[in-house]
Amino acid sequence: MLRKLTLAALLAGAAALPGHAAEGTAHIHDVDFSFEGPFGTYDKMQLQRGLQVYTEVCAACHGLKFVPLRTLADPGGPELPEDQVRAYAGQFEIFDEELDDFRPRLETDHFPESSMENAPDLSLMTKARAGFHGPLGTGLNQLFNGIGGPEYMVNILTSYTGEEKEQAGTLFYGNTAFPGGWIAMPPPLSDDLVEYADGHDADAHHLAEDVTAFLMWTAEPKMMARKEAGFTAVIFLVMLSVLLYLTNKRLWAPYKAAARKAKAAADTPAE
Ligand code: HEC
Repeated sequence: MLRKLTLAALLAGAAALPGHAAEGTAHIHDVDFSFEGPFGTYDKMQLQRGLQVYTEVCAACHGLKFVPLRTLADPGGPELPEDQVRAYAGQFEIFDEELDDFRPRLETDHFPESSMENAPDLSLMTKARAGFHGPLGTGLNQLFNGIGGPEYMVNILTSYTGEEKEQAGTLFYGNTAFPGGWIAMPPPLSDDLVEYADGHDADAHHLAEDVTAFLMWTAEPKMMARKEAGFTAVIFLVMLSVLLYLTNKRLWAPYKAAARKAKAAADTPAE
């Protein structure tokens, strides 16, 4: 009885520890993305919607400086037609040293950098964060749910509490998914903020999932090719194993037969 009591007291104490909530216990719920699992693929329409959300909302602050604009036409990505990629690139300016002036970007240029100093570049963000740390910080559930970078992003975008506080001249917003609980990014999404051309649902949660899928693609544009290559390699190795097994059997067959004969001869009593 005493034991049980102390255990309960310990657990209650641990839950009440002040630093606890700040360290990865932030609640991250799982999201079913089309690109998860060994056979998962990007959904082209979702990537296009995500590109739209990024362009209309996030690009005001965040850059994608590692992503070449021409890759928007690549197979396995948003697959925009070449002329649309050119038109899309042209809406961003870049300073050209040869011209000594600004010019519209070409598809051979990259996306712009972050225009806001403390807004991090998002090119690799979905791969740079983990959503799942448990149980008890061991990270074991990453085995089943993945690292959770995309989940982390969806949750950051949809977990604002509505509270605000000012600290040292900066406004912070309550966010249950952000470590520490306060983030300097104002809530960027709201229902129907973006109007989708394909008529897809545009509530805040869908906007968050779509832009996250797009940002997963920017971080891992060759994921589909990688999975295909892995699958081909596994099939190849299975076939190779079967062939080697059969070869092995065949090579040893005469010796086994001879051994069986010798044993049979030894076992029959001499007359
Ligand atoms: C008004 C400017 C602004 C807009 C618009 C904006 N962000 Fe941010 N974002 C920020 C700032 C500033 C930070 C840094 C917050 C901090 O470190 O507290 C940030 C941080 C982030 C982070 C990083 C959290 C981390 O773990 O470091 C992610 C992810 C993110 N933004 C995604 C987005 C997405 C996706 C959009 C578009 C839907 C978006 N942001 C729109 C300003 C913005």
